[in-house]
Amino acid sequence: MTIKDAPAKKSESLLVPRQPIADGPSVRQPAEVADPGAGVVSRETPPPAFDAVEAPAAKKTGKGRSVIDTMDDSSPLGRELAREAKRREKLSGKELPKPTHTRIMTISNQKGGVGKTTTTVNIAAALATAGLQVLVIDIDPQGNASTALNIDHHADVDSIYDVLIDDVPLGDVVAPCPDVPNLICAPATIHLAGAEIELVSLVAREQRLRRAIDVYAKQREEKGEPRLDFVFIDCPPSLGLLTVNAFVAAKEVLIPIQCEYYALEGLSQLLKNIEMIQKHLNSDLTVSTILLTMYDGRTNLAAQVAAEVREHFPQQVLKAVVPRSVRISEAPSYQQTVMTYDPSSSGALSYQEAAAEIASRP
Ligand SMILES: Nc1ncnc2c1ncn2[C@@H]1O[C@H](COP(=O)(O)OP(=O)(O)OP(=O)(O)O)[C@@H](O)[C@H]1O
Ligand SMILES: [Mg+2]
Repeated sequence: MTIKDAPAKKSESLLVPRQPIADGPSVRQPAEVADPGAGVVSRETPPPAFDAVEAPAAKKTGKGRSVIDTMDDSSPLGRELAREAKRREKLSGKELPKPTHTRIMTISNQKGGVGKTTTTVNIAAALATAGLQVLVIDIDPQGNASTALNIDHHADVDSIYDVLIDDVPLGDVVAPCPDVPNLICAPATIHLAGAEIELVSLVAREQRLRRAIDVYAKQREEKGEPRLDFVFIDCPPSLGLLTVNAFVAAKEVLIPIQCEYYALEGLSQLLKNIEMIQKHLNSDLTVSTILLTMYDGRTNLAAQVAAEVREHFPQQVLKAVVPRSVRISEAPSYQQTVMTYDPSSSGALSYQEAAAEIASRP
């Protein structure tokens, strides 16, 4: 479904300055604990229960009961552990299907700090760990994706800047992620900060990334290297020429939305821009995926924002929800994704679920 198909009336409500989602004390006091027991479980807040992927048959005990069925769920901690164990069981041993073509996804939201980079690197790492060939392209001058994937991106390194401005082949700048097999990354350096202005005077300024990816895909084929299954482009928090290049190169847009009060403000501007790109530069582009991030299960506000986004975009929103998680926020300071930093954390589990859902969609 393209955004053109989205019900106009519903989208309009995103345009207006938002009123509190519901009247009631919980909205005025966002920190209110919805389930007093939930807060004591761990510092990581759980996402709501969901069935992101089909479960393989549960491991049975001697009496035909699942191990999980025997877990004590009389306390909030027990219930939470049982829920997580169930989710893990659904994912374990599940093979992710390879797409029939290289899926190029742009991760974009001009709002800053909503989890674009975190989503890019963790979904990329989850898919690569599952055996798929994945390329991450960092086109944010901040270079956060390069940092999280432990890719050199100091000023002297050849980077996506050289690809966009000096026609250096993409294959010359990609580097393997040292911690995750099958994952490569084209880093961003500080030079990219000037690229928005330098691009303006260049020929085919909006198509430069797309061409570079096409050439690189052909080169890989000629060299007998495996076809890329996924390309993720991590965008800066703006709608300038770098983001336009990403929209023109991609077929799909993945929008991370933070489960906070201001999350939907600015979304209509993003959707309008995407519509412009569809009209003039890339008619294949669709908003295929929306991921709810930083979900704080202790607040009613997070649940209300999530419900509202699902109501507006029922097809696009993934069932998987990423919780606000200490482990997720710590991982980049160790130059890691949460998939390698703490694979057993609930944050890693949620990103695995999101990756499995993305892979299972056509
Ligand atoms: N689920 C989460 N739980 C806790 N912290 C998170 C979570 N997701 C992201 N963060 C933290 O929030 C901050 C912003 O995340 P991130 O850098 O991924 O956002 P962004 O949209 O890429 O930001 P920018 O717009 O600056 O590029 C980071 O410090 C990150 O570690
Ligand atoms: Mg970022």
